Amino acid sequence: MRGKRRVAIAGAAALAAAIAAPGPARAADPVGDVDRGAEIWQECSACHQIGAEATDWVGPHLNGLFGRRAAAHDGYAYSDGLARMGADGLVWSFETLDAYIENPLAFASDTRMAYPGLEDPQKRADLLAFLRTYSASPQDIPEAPRTANPTVPGLDPEILAIEGDAEYGAYLSSECTTCHQADGSAQGIPSITQWPEDAFVIAMHAYKRKLRPHPVMQMIAGRLNDEEIAALAAYFATLE
Ligand code: HEC
Ligand code: HEC
Repeated sequence: MRGKRRVAIAGAAALAAAIAAPGPARAADPVGDVDRGAEIWQECSACHQIGAEATDWVGPHLNGLFGRRAAAHDGYAYSDGLARMGADGLVWSFETLDAYIENPLAFASDTRMAYPGLEDPQKRADLLAFLRTYSASPQDIPEAPRTANPTVPGLDPEILAIEGDAEYGAYLSSECTTCHQADGSAQGIPSITQWPEDAFVIAMHAYKRKLRPHPVMQMIAGRLNDEEIAALAAYFATLE
């Protein structure tokens, strides 16, 4: 049973990756290569340590990531955004790590991780295979993502291309401004004005697909369709 399920899931992931990949069809092997991952790790090792002697450094050490809550190292000063997402229940898995590493800022808007992101899905799969070997029980962690979720933050370009209607966005925005203050003054609630529209749309879709853990925002984003999200992005982008 288990083997059969794994095959079906791997097939879906490869198909989704092929659809998402721009240019000539190029499906990422959903099971990454640990050795190639070790080479890519050099991009991370400027800031992170991993392995027996690893300690928190510029970034937190990355032992035992899989299945662990985000921003959970005592004594490491995380950004407010990542700390909030950890408190909301964000757990590091293939999906959430894949999304964070692809585009750290789209995933956690104020993350202190100054890394531009790793675009190539195959490289991310390799890197995740490498990181997985430093978790306590790699044999219990599946060798590939359980569900393919390549569209956030690498969202369907058509959704990002939707021209938002700012007037419609203004009409929809009253629901948002009960919590989000234009000056960011509401306690613990981030400001959402003057964002680049793309980043706003990506953040909303990350809630909609439950990659971002906040339950209220998941519910709110879940009720909005693509046009409504684009309209809100257009409106809040221009709001002083
Ligand atoms: C320029 C330094 C830098 C580089 C390069 C970098 N990181 Fe980070 N990383 C950080 C910092 C700083 C944080 C803490 C982020 C925060 O608090 O928002 C972090 C956080 C993380 C976390 C969250 C850990 C936790 O405890 O929740 C993961 C996972 C991570 N990085 C993975 C990677 C991987 C994989 C790479 C290589 C592709 C990488 N990082 C490259 C600086 C870096
Ligand atoms: C009940 C209060 C509440 C309402 C209503 C609300 N939000 Fe939020 N929103 C929050 C909180 C709290 C967060 C931080 C969640 C987190 O940590 O991920 C947030 C986060 C966000 C973010 C990401 C901010 C960041 O810095 O990453 C965006 C974008 C956003 N909301 C847009 C909206 C829009 C658009 C609406 C209206 C359709 C809305 N919100 C309605 C409470 C609310």
